[in-house]
Amino acid sequence: MSKVGVVGAGYVGLTTAACLAHLGHDVICGDADAEKVEQLKEGKVSIHEDGLSSLVSEGLAARRLQFIVGASDAARDVEYVFLCVNTPQAADGSADLSALREAVRQVAPALSQGTIVVNKSTAPVGTVARMAGWLSEAGVRSAVAVASNPEFLQEGTAVRDFLQPHRIVIGADDPEVAGRVASLYDALQAPVVVTDPASAEMSKYASNAFLAMKISFINAVANICEAVDADVRDVARGMGYDPRIGPQYLDAGPGWGGPCLPKDAMALVRIASDSKYDFDLLRTAIEVNARQRDQIVAKVRDARGGSLVDARVAVWGLAFKAGTDDLRDSAAVDITRRIIAEGATVAAFDPVAGEAALALGLPVVPDPYEACAGAHVLAVLTEWDELRQLDLGRALDLLASPELVDARNLFDPVEMRRIGFSYRGVGC
Ligand code: UGA
Repeated sequence: MSKVGVVGAGYVGLTTAACLAHLGHDVICGDADAEKVEQLKEGKVSIHEDGLSSLVSEGLAARRLQFIVGASDAARDVEYVFLCVNTPQAADGSADLSALREAVRQVAPALSQGTIVVNKSTAPVGTVARMAGWLSEAGVRSAVAVASNPEFLQEGTAVRDFLQPHRIVIGADDPEVAGRVASLYDALQAPVVVTDPASAEMSKYASNAFLAMKISFINAVANICEAVDADVRDVARGMGYDPRIGPQYLDAGPGWGGPCLPKDAMALVRIASDSKYDFDLLRTAIEVNARQRDQIVAKVRDARGGSLVDARVAVWGLAFKAGTDDLRDSAAVDITRRIIAEGATVAAFDPVAGEAALALGLPVVPDPYEACAGAHVLAVLTEWDELRQLDLGRALDLLASPELVDARNLFDPVEMRRIGFSYRGVGC
């Protein structure tokens, strides 16, 4: 078993630290946020992520997981340092690497001979090579190696995705270094792709961009389905059984959001244009995605007869997808704000993200039925299972008009129409 440092205790860093400890490694995780570190030392996990809290408690109890303030002590006397920091979108669409550069600067003096610095933060092709340059600028000599090990976990299923990955990708110039990184995952059953750093970095962007394009494709098909009276859910099933296509990422909806797909799609367009390639295919997928949000706002407007002035709208679901309290670049939040901007009064409910939404100034109520009281339209914007369990008959009785806009195709249109709703789904 190995000694591992992890820099950053966000979604990726904390999941990496807790899961590596679960695999038996000795892990020390450093974060700049002293308050967060104090909470983590007591086993308190502030992000909503299935199974993460219990793995943190397990690691603390077994003394295989420690938390510490700052990056540099997480890099001392360890064989590996994983850098898991934010690489937000800069104004020009590129990835802002300042947090990564700062992490390298902080860990540099603490590194020992033979330590491998592994980047897990999503960063453009060439970043691992740049990291080697930053390390040498900081006076670190060749005895320290760098590698890329992109993370493919999804929010909401991060622990499962880490412990049961579809693949592990490791990029390093020296195959022996890649082999050492791979050995950390020996306990997992997954194909390991060992490659050069640029290919590893590219595989992350290409994966996220492909998923984004797949969703934009089905959303475009959904729009056609509406015009030709087809049902996109059946079309998706008819496509998805073909193993060359696969059933996942074929759920039509309000468009893709969250902290990763939008940022990474933009970044790849930028990486392409920096390489003098116009990635028009991906640019169009991004445009289709923006228009999809417009479509949902239009459906809500249509449900109210063409204008949202003085309308009351109940919103169910604000998180960017089910299973998380994350509101970053959430289509639901964007659509809600646009409904308000068009003159409607909104009462919004989310089973998990309510508190986070309140902090953003959104009009949140604690109860789904309260949101419906007197509303002219009910708009379902996140695909929470909890919403599916609700009593739609009761919601209908509370509404001022029986208008349901189901932007996630969460409910059965036939059943909804049977109980009295005027139902608008996406592509059905
Ligand atoms: C995404 C990728 O799926 C992960 O593999 C990757 O590791 C991660 O980004 C990352 O780069 O860190 P995540 O941001 O958690 O994961 O979100 P997804 O589950 O991929 O969903 C993205 C968006 O697409 C959500 O808004 C979701 O509602 C939407 N979506 C997804 C659809 O509209 N339809 C679908 O069929 C699937």
